[in-house]
Amino acid sequence: MEELYGVIGDPIVHSMSPVMHNAAFKKAAIDASYGKFHVTTDALPQAINGIRALGLRGINVTVPHKTAVISLLDEVDPLAQSIGAVNTIVNREGKLIGFNTDGLGFVEGLKKEISGGLSNKSVLIIGAGGASKAIYHTLAALGVKKIDLANRSEEKAAAMIGTCPAGVESHYHGLNQAERVLHLYDIVIQTTSIGMYPRVGESPVSIERVKAGAVFSDIIYNPLKTTFLKQAEEKGAIIQNGIDMFVHQGALAFNKWTGVTPDTDLMKKVVLKQLGGTQC
Ligand code: ATR
Repeated sequence: MEELYGVIGDPIVHSMSPVMHNAAFKKAAIDASYGKFHVTTDALPQAINGIRALGLRGINVTVPHKTAVISLLDEVDPLAQSIGAVNTIVNREGKLIGFNTDGLGFVEGLKKEISGGLSNKSVLIIGAGGASKAIYHTLAALGVKKIDLANRSEEKAAAMIGTCPAGVESHYHGLNQAERVLHLYDIVIQTTSIGMYPRVGESPVSIERVKAGAVFSDIIYNPLKTTFLKQAEEKGAIIQNGIDMFVHQGALAFNKWTGVTPDTDLMKKVVLKQLGGTQC
Protein backbone atom coordinates (compact mmCIF):
# COMPACT_ATOMS: atom_id res chain seq x y z
CA MET A 1 0.00 0.00 0.00
CA GLU A 2 1.23 3.53 -0.78
CA GLU A 3 2.79 5.26 2.23
CA LEU A 4 1.87 8.86 2.90
CA TYR A 5 4.16 11.72 3.95
CA GLY A 6 3.92 15.48 3.99
CA VAL A 7 4.87 18.89 5.34
CA ILE A 8 2.79 21.11 7.64
CA GLY A 9 3.19 24.87 7.95
CA ASP A 10 1.52 28.25 7.59
CA PRO A 11 2.01 29.45 4.89
CA ILE A 12 2.86 26.29 2.92
CA VAL A 13 1.87 26.95 -0.68
CA HIS A 14 5.44 27.68 -1.86
CA SER A 15 7.08 24.68 -0.17
CA MET A 16 9.43 22.82 -2.48
CA SER A 17 9.53 19.75 -0.22
CA PRO A 18 6.83 17.83 -2.16
CA VAL A 19 8.59 17.94 -5.55
CA MET A 20 11.91 17.12 -3.90
CA HIS A 21 10.65 14.14 -1.85
CA ASN A 22 8.36 12.75 -4.55
CA ALA A 23 11.29 12.68 -6.99
CA ALA A 24 13.42 10.90 -4.38
CA PHE A 25 10.69 8.32 -3.62
CA LYS A 26 10.31 7.57 -7.33
CA LYS A 27 14.09 7.19 -7.82
CA ALA A 28 14.30 4.86 -4.81
CA ALA A 29 11.30 2.84 -6.10
CA ILE A 30 9.42 3.44 -2.86
CA ASP A 31 5.63 3.42 -3.21
CA ALA A 32 4.96 6.69 -1.40
CA SER A 33 3.49 10.12 -1.86
CA TYR A 34 4.37 13.44 -0.14
CA GLY A 35 1.91 16.34 0.09
CA LYS A 36 1.70 19.77 1.65
CA PHE A 37 -0.83 20.63 4.35
CA HIS A 38 -1.80 24.13 5.38
CA VAL A 39 -2.12 23.91 9.18
CA THR A 40 -2.87 26.99 11.28
CA THR A 41 -1.61 27.32 14.85
CA ASP A 42 -5.10 26.64 16.27
CA ALA A 43 -5.36 23.40 14.33
CA LEU A 44 -1.89 22.07 15.18
CA PRO A 45 -2.97 19.63 17.96
CA GLN A 46 -5.65 18.15 15.69
CA ALA A 47 -3.21 17.88 12.81
CA ILE A 48 -0.72 15.99 14.96
CA ASN A 49 -3.43 13.61 16.14
CA GLY A 50 -4.36 13.24 12.49
CA ILE A 51 -0.90 11.81 11.76
CA ARG A 52 -1.69 8.99 14.21
CA ALA A 53 -5.29 8.55 13.07
CA LEU A 54 -4.52 8.49 9.36
CA GLY A 55 -1.30 6.51 9.72
CA LEU A 56 0.94 9.02 7.91
CA ARG A 57 4.49 7.62 8.04
CA GLY A 58 6.40 10.86 8.34
CA ILE A 59 5.89 14.60 8.46
CA ASN A 60 8.11 17.64 8.06
CA VAL A 61 7.27 20.63 10.21
CA THR A 62 7.97 24.16 9.11
CA VAL A 63 7.32 27.73 10.26
CA PRO A 64 5.58 28.57 12.60
CA HIS A 65 5.12 25.13 14.24
CA LYS A 66 8.66 23.86 14.87
CA THR A 67 8.66 24.72 18.58
CA ALA A 68 4.97 24.34 19.45
CA VAL A 69 4.90 20.82 18.04
CA ILE A 70 7.32 19.50 20.68
CA SER A 71 4.75 19.20 23.48
CA LEU A 72 2.43 17.23 21.18
CA LEU A 73 4.90 14.42 20.42
CA ASP A 74 5.59 11.16 22.28
CA GLU A 75 9.38 11.49 22.18
CA VAL A 76 11.93 14.10 21.06
CA ASP A 77 15.55 13.27 20.33
CA PRO A 78 18.22 15.08 22.39
CA LEU A 79 19.57 17.34 19.61
CA ALA A 80 16.06 18.57 18.73
CA GLN A 81 15.48 19.06 22.44
CA SER A 82 18.56 21.27 22.79
CA ILE A 83 17.63 23.25 19.67
CA GLY A 84 14.09 23.57 20.98
CA ALA A 85 12.60 22.81 17.56
CA VAL A 86 11.47 19.79 15.52
CA ASN A 87 11.39 19.72 11.72
CA THR A 88 10.88 15.98 11.23
CA ILE A 89 8.35 13.59 12.78
CA VAL A 90 8.67 9.82 12.44
CA ASN A 91 5.55 7.74 13.06
CA ARG A 92 6.78 4.48 14.60
CA GLU A 93 3.65 2.36 14.90
CA GLY A 94 1.58 5.19 16.29
CA LYS A 95 4.38 6.65 18.41
CA LEU A 96 5.44 10.09 17.13
CA ILE A 97 9.14 10.88 17.49
CA GLY A 98 10.56 14.33 16.77
CA PHE A 99 13.97 15.13 15.25
CA ASN A 100 15.72 18.21 13.94
CA THR A 101 17.64 17.69 10.69
CA ASP A 102 18.14 21.41 9.88
CA GLY A 103 21.54 21.79 11.57
CA LEU A 104 22.81 18.38 10.44
CA GLY A 105 21.58 19.12 6.92
CA PHE A 106 23.52 22.37 6.97
CA VAL A 107 26.70 20.61 8.15
CA GLU A 108 26.32 17.85 5.56
CA GLY A 109 26.30 20.50 2.84
CA LEU A 110 29.14 22.46 4.44
CA LYS A 111 31.44 19.43 4.67
CA LYS A 112 32.19 19.37 0.96
CA GLU A 113 33.39 22.99 1.10
CA ILE A 114 35.85 22.63 4.00
CA SER A 115 39.07 20.72 4.43
CA GLY A 116 40.62 19.28 7.57
CA GLY A 117 37.45 18.68 9.61
CA LEU A 118 35.18 21.03 11.47
CA SER A 119 36.22 20.89 15.11
CA ASN A 120 39.26 23.18 14.83
CA LYS A 121 37.42 25.86 12.85
CA SER A 122 36.35 29.25 14.18
CA VAL A 123 32.76 30.02 13.27
CA LEU A 124 30.67 33.17 13.21
CA ILE A 125 26.89 32.83 12.87
CA ILE A 126 24.97 35.95 11.83
CA GLY A 127 21.42 35.99 13.22
CA ALA A 128 19.86 34.46 16.32
CA GLY A 129 16.53 33.01 15.11
CA GLY A 130 15.43 29.38 14.75
CA ALA A 131 17.79 28.44 11.91
CA SER A 132 20.73 29.97 13.75
CA LYS A 133 19.91 27.99 16.88
CA ALA A 134 19.70 24.71 14.94
CA ILE A 135 23.11 25.31 13.35
CA TYR A 136 24.66 26.57 16.62
CA HIS A 137 23.68 23.52 18.67
CA THR A 138 24.52 21.08 15.89
CA LEU A 139 28.03 22.53 15.43
CA ALA A 140 28.50 22.42 19.21
CA ALA A 141 27.32 18.79 19.33
CA LEU A 142 29.84 17.97 16.56
CA GLY A 143 32.73 19.36 18.62
CA VAL A 144 33.22 22.90 17.26
CA LYS A 145 34.78 24.89 20.10
CA LYS A 146 34.58 28.48 18.86
CA ILE A 147 31.14 29.67 17.72
CA ASP A 148 30.47 33.41 17.96
CA LEU A 149 27.15 35.09 17.24
CA ALA A 150 26.49 38.40 15.47
CA ASN A 151 23.02 39.83 15.71
CA ARG A 152 21.10 43.12 15.56
CA SER A 153 19.76 42.72 19.09
CA GLU A 154 22.02 41.47 21.84
CA GLU A 155 19.16 40.01 23.84
CA LYS A 156 18.35 37.05 21.53
CA ALA A 157 22.01 36.25 20.92
CA ALA A 158 22.80 36.39 24.64
CA ALA A 159 19.89 34.03 25.37
CA MET A 160 21.32 31.56 22.86
CA ILE A 161 24.83 31.88 24.26
CA GLY A 162 23.26 31.17 27.66
CA THR A 163 22.26 27.70 26.40
CA CYS A 164 25.74 27.02 25.04
CA PRO A 165 27.02 23.52 25.86
CA ALA A 166 30.08 23.06 28.09
CA GLY A 167 33.39 23.43 26.30
CA VAL A 168 32.11 25.84 23.64
CA GLU A 169 33.39 29.42 23.62
CA SER A 170 30.88 31.99 22.31
CA HIS A 171 30.94 35.78 22.16
CA TYR A 172 28.39 38.28 20.95
CA HIS A 173 29.10 40.93 18.29
CA GLY A 174 26.78 43.69 17.14
CA LEU A 175 26.50 43.83 13.34
CA ASN A 176 28.88 46.83 13.01
CA GLN A 177 31.44 45.17 15.24
CA ALA A 178 31.07 41.93 13.26
CA GLU A 179 32.11 43.71 10.07
CA ARG A 180 35.45 44.56 11.68
CA VAL A 181 36.21 40.98 12.73
CA LEU A 182 34.86 38.95 9.79
CA HIS A 183 38.41 38.21 8.60
CA LEU A 184 39.16 36.28 11.81
CA TYR A 185 36.75 33.42 11.04
CA ASP A 186 37.17 30.22 9.00
CA ILE A 187 33.42 29.89 8.51
CA VAL A 188 30.80 32.67 8.45
CA ILE A 189 27.13 31.63 8.27
CA GLN A 190 24.35 34.09 7.37
CA THR A 191 21.03 32.89 8.86
CA THR A 192 18.79 35.99 8.78
CA SER A 193 16.18 36.68 6.08
CA ILE A 194 18.10 39.81 4.97
CA GLY A 195 18.82 39.62 1.24
CA MET A 196 16.00 37.20 0.51
CA TYR A 197 13.76 37.90 -2.49
CA PRO A 198 12.39 40.55 -3.03
CA ARG A 199 14.89 42.56 -0.87
CA VAL A 200 17.82 41.26 -2.87
CA GLY A 201 20.10 44.29 -2.54
CA GLU A 202 20.38 44.03 1.27
CA SER A 203 22.96 42.35 3.47
CA PRO A 204 23.34 42.25 7.29
CA VAL A 205 27.04 43.14 7.03
CA SER A 206 29.36 44.68 4.51
CA ILE A 207 32.37 42.45 3.80
CA GLU A 208 35.79 44.12 3.55
CA ARG A 209 38.24 41.31 4.28
CA VAL A 210 38.03 37.54 4.56
CA LYS A 211 40.49 35.01 5.96
CA ALA A 212 42.38 32.96 3.36
CA GLY A 213 40.38 29.82 2.57
CA ALA A 214 37.31 31.03 4.50
CA VAL A 215 33.88 29.66 3.65
CA PHE A 216 30.93 32.09 3.63
CA SER A 217 27.57 30.40 3.67
CA ASP A 218 24.08 31.87 3.35
CA ILE A 219 21.04 29.75 4.19
CA ILE A 220 18.96 31.76 1.68
CA TYR A 221 18.40 30.07 -1.71
CA ASN A 222 16.20 32.70 -3.36
CA PRO A 223 18.18 34.38 -4.85
CA LEU A 224 20.86 31.71 -5.28
CA LYS A 225 23.56 34.34 -4.82
CA THR A 226 22.68 36.95 -2.21
CA THR A 227 24.46 40.29 -1.88
CA PHE A 228 26.25 38.76 1.13
CA LEU A 229 27.60 35.91 -1.04
CA LYS A 230 28.48 38.22 -3.95
CA GLN A 231 30.58 40.41 -1.64
CA ALA A 232 32.23 37.42 0.01
CA GLU A 233 33.12 35.95 -3.38
CA GLU A 234 34.61 39.27 -4.53
CA LYS A 235 36.87 39.22 -1.46
CA GLY A 236 38.05 35.70 -2.26
CA ALA A 237 35.90 33.51 -0.02
CA ILE A 238 34.52 30.09 -0.95
CA ILE A 239 30.75 30.60 -1.05
CA GLN A 240 27.75 28.35 -0.53
CA ASN A 241 24.02 29.09 -0.78
CA GLY A 242 21.10 27.53 1.10
CA ILE A 243 20.22 24.84 -1.45
CA ASP A 244 22.53 22.26 0.11
CA MET A 245 21.04 22.76 3.58
CA PHE A 246 17.51 22.43 2.19
CA VAL A 247 18.35 19.28 0.23
CA HIS A 248 20.29 17.59 3.05
CA GLN A 249 17.76 18.35 5.80
CA GLY A 250 15.25 16.66 3.49
CA ALA A 251 17.55 13.74 2.74
CA LEU A 252 18.18 13.13 6.45
CA ALA A 253 14.42 13.15 7.11
CA PHE A 254 13.89 10.75 4.18
CA ASN A 255 16.48 8.41 5.67
CA LYS A 256 14.84 8.49 9.10
CA TRP A 257 11.48 7.58 7.56
CA THR A 258 12.58 4.89 5.12
CA GLY A 259 16.08 3.73 6.11
CA VAL A 260 17.13 4.58 2.53
CA THR A 261 19.73 7.19 1.57
CA PRO A 262 18.10 9.19 -1.24
CA ASP A 263 19.75 10.56 -4.37
CA THR A 264 20.70 14.06 -3.19
CA ASP A 265 22.05 15.08 -6.62
CA LEU A 266 18.63 14.42 -8.09
CA MET A 267 16.92 16.25 -5.20
CA LYS A 268 19.15 19.26 -5.77
CA LYS A 269 18.47 19.23 -9.50
CA VAL A 270 14.72 19.15 -8.91
CA VAL A 271 14.87 22.05 -6.44
CA LEU A 272 17.08 24.13 -8.75
CA LYS A 273 14.68 23.49 -11.62
CA GLN A 274 11.78 24.59 -9.42
CA LEU A 275 13.69 27.78 -8.58
CA GLY A 276 14.47 28.30 -12.24
CA GLY A 277 18.20 28.75 -11.74
CA THR A 278 21.59 27.15 -11.89
CA GLN A 279 23.98 26.62 -9.01
CA CYS A 280 26.26 29.54 -8.11
P1 ATR B 1 14.16 32.05 11.75
O1 ATR B 1 13.35 31.73 10.51
O2 ATR B 1 15.58 31.62 11.62
O3 ATR B 1 13.52 31.61 13.02
P2 ATR B 1 13.69 34.75 12.74
O4 ATR B 1 13.26 34.26 14.05
O5 ATR B 1 12.76 35.59 11.95
O6 ATR B 1 14.20 33.62 11.74
O7 ATR B 1 15.05 35.54 13.05
C1 ATR B 1 16.03 35.75 12.13
C2 ATR B 1 17.15 36.65 12.64
O8 ATR B 1 17.23 37.66 11.65
C3 ATR B 1 16.97 37.34 13.97
O9 ATR B 1 18.16 37.17 14.69
C4 ATR B 1 16.77 38.81 13.60
O10 ATR B 1 17.43 39.72 14.46
P3 ATR B 1 16.84 40.20 15.88
O11 ATR B 1 17.12 39.07 16.85
O12 ATR B 1 17.60 41.43 16.21
O13 ATR B 1 15.38 40.42 15.66
C5 ATR B 1 17.44 38.91 12.27
N1 ATR B 1 16.85 39.95 11.44
C6 ATR B 1 15.69 39.87 10.74
N2 ATR B 1 15.48 41.02 10.05
C7 ATR B 1 16.53 41.84 10.33
C8 ATR B 1 16.93 43.16 9.90
N3 ATR B 1 16.19 43.86 9.05
N4 ATR B 1 18.09 43.66 10.38
C9 ATR B 1 18.86 42.95 11.22
N5 ATR B 1 18.55 41.70 11.67
C10 ATR B 1 17.41 41.15 11.22
